Amino acid sequence: MEHQHILILDFGGQYNQLIARRVRECSVYCEVRPYNKVTLDDIRADAPAGIIFTGGPNSVYGEGAPSVPKELFELGIPVLGICYGSQLMAYVLGGEVATCITSEYGKTETEYDKDCVLFSADELPKKAVSWMSHTDYIAKMPEGFKKAAQTWNCPVAAMYNEEKKLYAVQFHPEVNHTEHGITMIYNFVRKVCGCSGDWTMGNYAETAIKTVREKVGSGKVLLALSGGVDSSVLAALLSKAVGRQLTCIFVDHGFMRKHEGDEVEAAFADWDINFVRVDAKEQFLGKLRGVSDPEKKRKIIGEEFIRVFEAEAKKIGRVDFLAQGTIYPDVIESGSGDAAVIKSHHNVGGLPDYVDFKEIIEPLRMLFKDEVRRLGTELGLSETLVWRQPFPGPGLAVRIMGEITDEKLEILRDADHIFREEIANAGLDRSINQYFAVLTDNRSVGVMGDFRTYDYTLALRAVETSDFMTAEFSRIPYEVLEVCSRRIVNEVKNINRVVYDITTKPPATIEWE
Ligand code: XMP
Repeated sequence: MEHQHILILDFGGQYNQLIARRVRECSVYCEVRPYNKVTLDDIRADAPAGIIFTGGPNSVYGEGAPSVPKELFELGIPVLGICYGSQLMAYVLGGEVATCITSEYGKTETEYDKDCVLFSADELPKKAVSWMSHTDYIAKMPEGFKKAAQTWNCPVAAMYNEEKKLYAVQFHPEVNHTEHGITMIYNFVRKVCGCSGDWTMGNYAETAIKTVREKVGSGKVLLALSGGVDSSVLAALLSKAVGRQLTCIFVDHGFMRKHEGDEVEAAFADWDINFVRVDAKEQFLGKLRGVSDPEKKRKIIGEEFIRVFEAEAKKIGRVDFLAQGTIYPDVIESGSGDAAVIKSHHNVGGLPDYVDFKEIIEPLRMLFKDEVRRLGTELGLSETLVWRQPFPGPGLAVRIMGEITDEKLEILRDADHIFREEIANAGLDRSINQYFAVLTDNRSVGVMGDFRTYDYTLALRAVETSDFMTAEFSRIPYEVLEVCSRRIVNEVKNINRVVYDITTKPPATIEWE
């Protein structure tokens, strides 16, 4: 591996991805590996600049509790143990771990020893809040360790052995609630491990372009481009690597937002690639005629997508490589590298079975979403593309309740456009993670001028979320909602009522179908 890197040994902690993201924010490359899939020999061969142990749900005394061999601490590689990882370090090295009288959970006032390099930065005060989440604690430190932090309930909230470069923190520096947590991680990876910070997206782009070029040689590469962030950044990267050996197929199913299909095409107009836009709107609408069940809609769209893609790919003939926009959270969530192929199938709805190709390439598979965005900027993609919100594969088809018609699509597109415009006008477009309009199948009575109307109800949805697994509805100011509502009922035909969705996920989902 060319970059200095940190190995993150995962003991099943809920914040494993967060630790990795924080390390990378310090411009240091890292990889998360399940603790039981890495041997001492692997570590010796891999020669990481440092190792971080994540937290985990176990107690070190539990039956079959995850552990590491004592020799790991004798490799001369710095180690930082977090939460369970800190207890494990204490236990394996001969200290004692005990159960707290009361579990410590949440924001906790913590006193730090500024002599310890983790807490040595000027901006880090002697007392600050840390995020605790534990039932066990280090009751007795192993020999050679010094205490470096404490709370009212936790006598050893941090400990270290400077000579052996072993550090342990009971709290979670990776969580935002820990004040200056990122500084502590920076101190570990940069000062203790001596990493210089050579992980930048500029570097990455250069290396990835070279690697792809070598691998692909004179072969042909095929990519399904949706216009989403991942596939767009991938297209940009591949274009720089192999130019016209790349063909991007953009299946326009007709369910994109207003002007979006043209925007995707325009975004790639100046790139050195073969860009094929397939206008398949009539085909998709035809298949969906009379269908209103959400699951049936999704299935039909998925299948039709494959059919259209396949037909187009056949025109190119045999391709050597199929490129996919798999990113690191998918890889970590699958638990190991092994499940990647299954995920790859999943990502493009089973394409590999239909298209004749030699190998899959996934040049983004080690990147987090925020890194993919930065890479996109680095490669010269527009801000609009790089900061695009998630948009479901089936597009507006799952934002129209009931049967999909051309007329309904037009109504929704116009209303959604106004909503997005007003959110941007209010300066809320970066703070709300996802926002869109939904055309319900409900009609109600209204009055416009002197006339009675009987028209559709439009729902607005806007959520704040970090992982899209749970979400809060966004507290959009009433004044902004008022402008949206007024403009929509005035400017969009067939809508006479606008409602705002104030449910969280769970129990609701973000999309309505
Ligand atoms: P839900 O509605 O399940 O959505 O709360 C969570 C996130 O996933 C997006 N989403 C999709 N993305 N294909 C996608 O690529 C899909 O079929 C799909 N369905 C939902 C949704 O927009 C939200 O960000």
